Amino acid sequence: MAERILVTSALPYANGAIHLGHVVEYVQTDIYVRFLRSCGQDVVYFCADDTHGTPIELNASKLGIPPEQFVARFHDEHQRDFRDFDVRFDYFHSTNSPENRQYAELIYGRLKDAGDIDRRDVEQAYCEKDKRFLPDRFIRGTCPNCKAADQYGDACEKCGKTYNPTDLIDAHCALCRTPPVRRNSEHLFFRLSRHADFLQEVLKRPGFIHPGLATQLQGFFEKGLSDWDISRDGPYFGFAIPGETDKFFYVWLDAPIGYIATTEKWAKETGRAKDALEYWAKDAPTRIVHFIGKDIVYFHALFWPAVLKVAGFHIPNEIKVHGHLTVNGEKMSKTRGTMVPARDYLEQLDPSYLRYFYAANLGAGVEDLDLSLKDFRLRVNGELVNNVGNLANRALSMLAGPLEKKLAPGRQEGAGRTLVEQALARVPEVREAFEKLEYRAAIKIITDIASTANAFLQTQAPWALVKKDAEAARADLSDAADVAYLLGALLAPVTPRVSERLFAQLNAPPLTFQALATAKYPLLDRTRPLGTPEPLLPRLEEDRVNAIIKAPPELPVADSTTPGSGGKDKKKEKKPVEAKTPEAQPAVPTTQASAGAGAGTGTAEAGPAADIEYADFAKVVLKAGRIVAAEKVKGADKLLKLDVDLGEGTPRTIVSGIAEAYTAEAVAGRRVVVVANLKPRKLKGIESRGMLLTAGSGGKDLSLLDPGDVAPGSDVK
Ligand code: MSP
Ligand code: ZN
Repeated sequence: MAERILVTSALPYANGAIHLGHVVEYVQTDIYVRFLRSCGQDVVYFCADDTHGTPIELNASKLGIPPEQFVARFHDEHQRDFRDFDVRFDYFHSTNSPENRQYAELIYGRLKDAGDIDRRDVEQAYCEKDKRFLPDRFIRGTCPNCKAADQYGDACEKCGKTYNPTDLIDAHCALCRTPPVRRNSEHLFFRLSRHADFLQEVLKRPGFIHPGLATQLQGFFEKGLSDWDISRDGPYFGFAIPGETDKFFYVWLDAPIGYIATTEKWAKETGRAKDALEYWAKDAPTRIVHFIGKDIVYFHALFWPAVLKVAGFHIPNEIKVHGHLTVNGEKMSKTRGTMVPARDYLEQLDPSYLRYFYAANLGAGVEDLDLSLKDFRLRVNGELVNNVGNLANRALSMLAGPLEKKLAPGRQEGAGRTLVEQALARVPEVREAFEKLEYRAAIKIITDIASTANAFLQTQAPWALVKKDAEAARADLSDAADVAYLLGALLAPVTPRVSERLFAQLNAPPLTFQALATAKYPLLDRTRPLGTPEPLLPRLEEDRVNAIIKAPPELPVADSTTPGSGGKDKKKEKKPVEAKTPEAQPAVPTTQASAGAGAGTGTAEAGPAADIEYADFAKVVLKAGRIVAAEKVKGADKLLKLDVDLGEGTPRTIVSGIAEAYTAEAVAGRRVVVVANLKPRKLKGIESRGMLLTAGSGGKDLSLLDPGDVAPGSDVK
């Protein structure tokens, strides 16, 4: 039987909005799944909301609603965010589901039968007022080391020291500020220490986890693996442990079981499998791949495989770990407004831009990834819009315009055929890069292919050739369109929308990696007419990009006494509660919101320049032109020397300061707006006869004005 692949992303807590950090993981996984599918693999992709634990229970109780109702709200919201980022799960379920309870109980029963569950007394902090045991994150006090006030029970945020809550000076309950007492309670432990040899063997399996992480995890074995406390006392939101009174499974026991529960639900709903065991049975011919962030490695690489083994399930084959997102070089922060909700981004921009940027920066390692808004804009504009987009647009608009949407038959030989064949020869490299999660390497090859094709068009100059030999121009442009088609296939896992648009404009069926394995020149069916060309993606505008970070609220939103995340490894709990309560939404101060223009706030912005008469403007002669050749000016980083066809017979030479924003290859063939009656001027010894109009602040932030599909020499008024 052919191997079937099951891929998961970590289950987000149903305790707050999906933010752009989460999106790194879901986009990384989604690209992988789309790639495998394009290769013809049988793959399913599952995720679910992680609904249990103390923080969720407390947030719900603060709102006076049942936790089930609290988490339900995020279920819809999360699914919408993922869908709008083009993340396509085969199923998105919830850990608070009958399927998950069923598998949690089954697995626990097997651990117990195997003699792997132990009872031990645990002494813990207890708040007599709140009548609950307090996890470390719910105890605050003064750091025993640096004496910083109001620190968490597990670690000091000031000096970084980790300690036990009992070490805190004047420890108090984070909820009610009463000093906690010590109290004993019986807990259930999974005897993880008995499985050290097995886990060490798993860590050595090829492809199981990044070798660097495997080495790091060795540290746990050297210290001696501890058993794992899997029970929590009520009040707790989770599944009651069968046969016990007021004891619940710790959230991290049933969370990964959610992967199995989601498989089960999907099987039942779609009929595509009998049940979850078709994937999760010990000997099922499946490959199970988990994508996770670096903060939850311990749970996935140690606890989870041991639990699965004892319970007689399939051990994950691969755990793909990524680093964390930083924004403008800093850790994401709610107070700085950089914990950008996915929705804030989606309100401004097409998801393709961010998907592209993440791919262009992701490798197989666990380094963090930075979203610098400036790099984001420049990189996306420079590569996706100006390079890939420009190639497609140049080839298609000329073919559709003067050449009536007809392609030329493939050629026996020549530069165009070589171009396509050389691009095709690079497909295996791209494929390997995707396979290894070296997305940035894949993107590098893809942009190289686009640059080469743009350079080809520049050399062939079909916009000039078309006047002398229309069929030769058609043949060159058809070969360039073939490359655009190939780029559509290679980029489809990353920017599926862009590829769909491109395939539609080419009037060609989607091209897959599977088809590419045996594809030959020419790629396009050259007898089919083209569709209608349109720019694939507009340039990223600075104000739009900046608008994804909303101004942080003036008053701190989260009250500092609401601690905790879903209850991770105690050294890892770090997340502020993200529940969006009506109270937590800061009201916009009305004075600010309603302050109209001229409120006399003394902004430094300059007023409009003095008005001019129409006659002044009419002195400027503006013409539409087409760049027929371009080259860098030696010794000048900013300048390109251009030959611009203004319908005057001979093209004019214009030296233009756009080289930081555009390469010579990228501008050749472009339509531009030219100031045609400027006094000639010498720049670096070259006489320049005119000026191109651009928009933007200058340097890398420049966009050439496009007059649209008009003949060179047309007036612009
Ligand atoms: N609920 C647990 C996972 C349970 S899996 C059985 C959890 N949830 S989470 O919402 O905090 O995180 C979900 C995933 O998003 C994790 O893999 C986490 O590493 C990832 N990320 C959260 N913040 C992130 C960044 N800033 N950057 C990259 N990934 C991030 O952990
Ligand atoms: Zn209390």
